[in-house]
Amino acid sequence: MAKPVSIEVWNPNGKYRVVSTKPMPGTRWINLLVEQDCRVEICTQKKTILSVEDIIALIGDKCDGVIGQLTEDWGETLFSALSKAGGKAFSNMAVGYNNVDVNAANKYGVAVGNTPGVLTETTAELAASLSLAAARRIVEADEFMRAGLYDGWLPNLYVGNLLKGQTVGVIGAGRIGSAYARMMVEGFKMNLIYFDLYQSTRLEKFVTAYGEFLKANGEQPVTWKRASSMDEVLQQADVISLHPILDKTTYHLVNKERLALMKKEAILINCSRGPVIDEVALVEHLKHNPMFRVGLDVFEDEPYMKPGLGDMKNAIVVPHIASASKWTREGMATLAALNVLGKIKGYPVWSDPNRVEPFLNENARPPAAAPSIVNAKALGLPVSKL
Ligand SMILES: NC(=O)c1ccc[n+]([C@@H]2O[C@H](COP(=O)([O-])OP(=O)(O)OC[C@H]3O[C@@H](n4cnc5c(N)ncnc54)[C@H](O)[C@@H]3O)[C@@H](O)[C@H]2O)c1
Repeated sequence: MAKPVSIEVWNPNGKYRVVSTKPMPGTRWINLLVEQDCRVEICTQKKTILSVEDIIALIGDKCDGVIGQLTEDWGETLFSALSKAGGKAFSNMAVGYNNVDVNAANKYGVAVGNTPGVLTETTAELAASLSLAAARRIVEADEFMRAGLYDGWLPNLYVGNLLKGQTVGVIGAGRIGSAYARMMVEGFKMNLIYFDLYQSTRLEKFVTAYGEFLKANGEQPVTWKRASSMDEVLQQADVISLHPILDKTTYHLVNKERLALMKKEAILINCSRGPVIDEVALVEHLKHNPMFRVGLDVFEDEPYMKPGLGDMKNAIVVPHIASASKWTREGMATLAALNVLGKIKGYPVWSDPNRVEPFLNENARPPAAAPSIVNAKALGLPVSKL
């Protein structure tokens, strides 16, 4: 039996009991719940990753909804416990929900929310930051400087790659992949090659228009290509960024064979989910190809790195901070809270999870809808007409 976990309570007399497994940024999400008669309980336990037992203890005997995190394993056990406590809503504070067994949630009639849109640009900006840091060897150079090793300008000191005119490859050109592609094309005048199961017409139109603009100004136009296979992207691109969802089809999408297809001086960025790359194969590849560089926000066995990765000078590693801007994290908390509230109050589901701005306007009441419920169809939930 897990020990009781410490909690902070808001609005103790609220009718609906909503639990958040972590303190989340900002207070708007708390206020929105409290205004609608919720008692909000926030777990303040000093433990980064809560166990299933910890969360069962938090759910207790009566719980209407839970806001949880991507580090938690939301499967049969937790959905069964939530359902037994009368709960009908769960929301991840993340857009990805590979930690959630949606079939198990369906079985217990629990709505599963996620937080799309609000983190698109923030995550793309980190992928762009890692791309630049890897191309220009910023972390290595910073370490060199701090170690007191700089004794004067040299023609060969930390020579990296120029991005302008090179090709950026995007695997998974959805919301984040497309935003990243636009940043790299517009910001650094890179050509684009992408692979996705679906055509990204808006992205193609953007690159075409920007290319025409550059041409009209006497500059080299940028180009785009939709690759017919992922391997084509790996072979042709100089910088490759991974942005697919994690599911069975994308597990170890980048493996030993695919790493071997990439250019010797290529840069690989991962801000999607760790298991999209076979990290053991990546460490071996980094060892044998010192000019190949990676920028990683996510890891296969998070929070751990595979042995050897932390020693590689040609790897930049950051602790899953791609969505970590104040505005985004507060917005994610708001969307997660409104997903849970929407189901509790019987509101319909918002019609377009790519258009969540009305929920993020701090100066207006949010629409009476749940912003993004991934199993709305399976549960037959009504859709908002707004
Ligand atoms: N590192 C972070 O902090 C962070 C932050 C936000 C999102 N993410 C991850 O990024 C993922 C993408 O987010 P999004 O909002 O852009 O989602 P999205 O659904 O808009 O885009 C995902 C894209 O991947 C494509 N795809 C699926 N399978 C594919 C395959 N086998 N090959 C190529 N493309 C494939 C889909 O067609 C879709 O266009 C999330 O699922 C999440 O795991 C990570």
